[in-house]
Amino acid sequence: MVIGLGTGSTAHYAIEALIRRVHGGLRIRAIPTSERSAAQARAGGIPLSTFAEHRRLDLTIDGADEVELGTLNLIKGLGGALLREKIVASVSARLVIVADHAKLVDRLGTKTPVPVEVVPFGWETTADRLRRLGADPQSRRDAKGQLFCTDGGNRILDCRFRSISDPESLDRMIGQTVGVVETGLFIGMAQIALIADAGGVRSIRRGG
Ligand code: A5P
Repeated sequence: MVIGLGTGSTAHYAIEALIRRVHGGLRIRAIPTSERSAAQARAGGIPLSTFAEHRRLDLTIDGADEVELGTLNLIKGLGGALLREKIVASVSARLVIVADHAKLVDRLGTKTPVPVEVVPFGWETTADRLRRLGADPQSRRDAKGQLFCTDGGNRILDCRFRSISDPESLDRMIGQTVGVVETGLFIGMAQIALIADAGGVRSIRRGG
């Protein structure tokens, strides 16, 4: 199988588990969604691949910042890897989300802003356009207080909306905004969420 490797603290554990399986004889190739996950996989001995070799992936395992009950629509990107995550998820036959129960919400946008990746040039004007869509965009900064830079060399605007009643339309509207590269709204992409709480891990299916 060709597997997409997610990014974030929860995906980190999934990659560690895959590394153990590979050492036990599992034969896979993987496409990582960030330089961080690539380094972890490489160090652990998971053979990496590229889209030049594989246009379709069998499965991607990734984390999320919010998981909407029922639809399994997601907010992703607080880890800054949303663009590669969406590219990988969009060509995966299955997207499995691993998260703890605190990520479950009845409605997207309840706990976290929507991360929006924008090109550096004129990002302030992109922020103005997002404001006109009802967002309150905050430019993300790194630990040193510098503007956060994604693996693709772009910026992230964390956009809070008063309420998100139609995430699909919002995703489309943000996506059509000049200067926007991609949004952290993942609509209709995940089929299964593996949700951990004190009692163990339960599997939630889209629509289930
Ligand atoms: C990375 O860009 C994100 O989409 C992560 O998948 C998300 O932030 C979840 O990360 P944690 O598992 O660290 O909460």
